[in-house]
Amino acid sequence: MKLFTSVHDVTDINALAAEALQLKQNPYAQQHLGKNKTLGLVFLNPSLRTRMSTQKAALNLGMNVMVLNMDKEGWALELQDGVVMNGSTVEHIREAAAVLGQYVDIIGVRSFPGLKNRDEDYNEEIFNKFVKYCGVPVVSLESATRHPLQSLADLVTITELKTKARPKVVLTWAPHIKPLPQAVPNSFAEWMCKADVDFTIAHPKGYELSTDFTDGATITHNQDEALADADFIYVKNWSAFEPYGKILPGNEDWMLTNEKLKVTNHAKVMHCLPVRRNLELSDEILDGPSSIVVHEAGNRVWAAQAVLKQMLESL
Ligand code: CP
Repeated sequence: MKLFTSVHDVTDINALAAEALQLKQNPYAQQHLGKNKTLGLVFLNPSLRTRMSTQKAALNLGMNVMVLNMDKEGWALELQDGVVMNGSTVEHIREAAAVLGQYVDIIGVRSFPGLKNRDEDYNEEIFNKFVKYCGVPVVSLESATRHPLQSLADLVTITELKTKARPKVVLTWAPHIKPLPQAVPNSFAEWMCKADVDFTIAHPKGYELSTDFTDGATITHNQDEALADADFIYVKNWSAFEPYGKILPGNEDWMLTNEKLKVTNHAKVMHCLPVRRNLELSDEILDGPSSIVVHEAGNRVWAAQAVLKQMLESL
């Protein structure tokens, strides 16, 4: 594997999830693969889980890891070609990405959307320029439109904890006070549409995701109806795709509660984290037996390790 930016870079998602679960059983068996190899992690935005779990995964494989918080510690990046750089930007992405590629064998990049211009965000300008100019394999640590390491960890978690061959999985919108990207729900949707699950998306009117990610999903505006007989519930806020990046008024009653869980099949509740308590998800759920959010975050290590292992094997 040379590139991990979406589900489309994976030949067999079930085999990759199974490999992650094998690595969970035996984390250090592949240390020879990463000997004298270096992973560079480039963050243009904050992170707890992605940063720590991907570092841990690389260390388990015997790799060295270098982290650059480019938003705080790097030079201000210029993205446009052919411009006179007489403003605030100091280094062009052509040199920055190419130089990083001289120091590391694999690069991870996190670059969130601006949520102002949909075409710019959905063209993945920053991310694609890193891929174009760095000259080494690239793993997405979350881009403007997708978060594939999170989605793989989510598939690993469902595979590990399911009690039937084809569970019902529901992605349900949750309230928030800030406009959040569509990357996590887009990505979760496109992975679940390829997984062996019955997949439903529930959201208020106006929060339709791009159909590029939801082909094959059942989509409803009725949360109670969606939750009936659910085995897994994935809770996530996202801002509107149209009007792009906006929060629409109302919908506070979409926060999941124990009362709403009564119609489910003892559903396990997932969230990518970080989560705002009692806004996105209630204390009673996060502190109760239904929540698997910490277990899910733990599986980020094995998802990242499975991807890095396949990249190391292709070097
Ligand atoms: N879920 C996730 O990506 O968490 P971080 O933003 O903390 O990395």
